[in-house]
Amino acid sequence: DLERIAKISATIRVIPDFPKPGIMFQDITTLLLDPVAFKDTIDLFVERYKHMNISVVAGVEARGFIFGPPIALAIGAKFVPIRKPKKLPGEVISEEYSLEYGTDKMEMHVGAVQPGDRALVVDDLIATGGTLCAAMKLLERVEAHVVECACVIELAELKGRDRLGEKPLFVLVSST
Ligand code: PRP
Ligand code: MG
Repeated sequence: DLERIAKISATIRVIPDFPKPGIMFQDITTLLLDPVAFKDTIDLFVERYKHMNISVVAGVEARGFIFGPPIALAIGAKFVPIRKPKKLPGEVISEEYSLEYGTDKMEMHVGAVQPGDRALVVDDLIATGGTLCAAMKLLERVEAHVVECACVIELAELKGRDRLGEKPLFVLVSST
């Protein structure tokens, strides 16, 4: 696994000063260009989750939509998109979360997740953890059990992991 993870890590491009000065942007589009690294990424998650009785994979718009669906298909779980406001056409529940400046919202369809569903939350990256916290709240409001959150990359110095509290977080690459 360490060898696969090192190869995955090497495919992630870091772009300084995007979208703003001082931000080192972790660009996963270069991982997607490498079919072996992309497949290994999905396989590592699938190997971890295939025997955990996950019934729903919830992916966070936008980049959670890249990694979530192939994991869901491989482990035989349903996929539920958690989206930015006003994108989902049906009845939704919504949760506010804080950004660097101000707040945003994310939404999930009512009825997509049932009480007792065992959920895995997938995104590309955890920074402050605000996004994953809001996604977990949506799932917990409909009485799903969040088994774990999974990301490709963790920006460890931002301590988003602490913000998730008791909830386990699994990441492939931890970046400082
Ligand atoms: C990025 C990233 C995570 C989130 C992490 O998404 O894809 O979803 O930020 O930040 P946090 O841990 O501080 O909440 P972004 O909102 O930039 O949008 P995108 O996925 O639609 O590109
Ligand atoms: Mg995102």
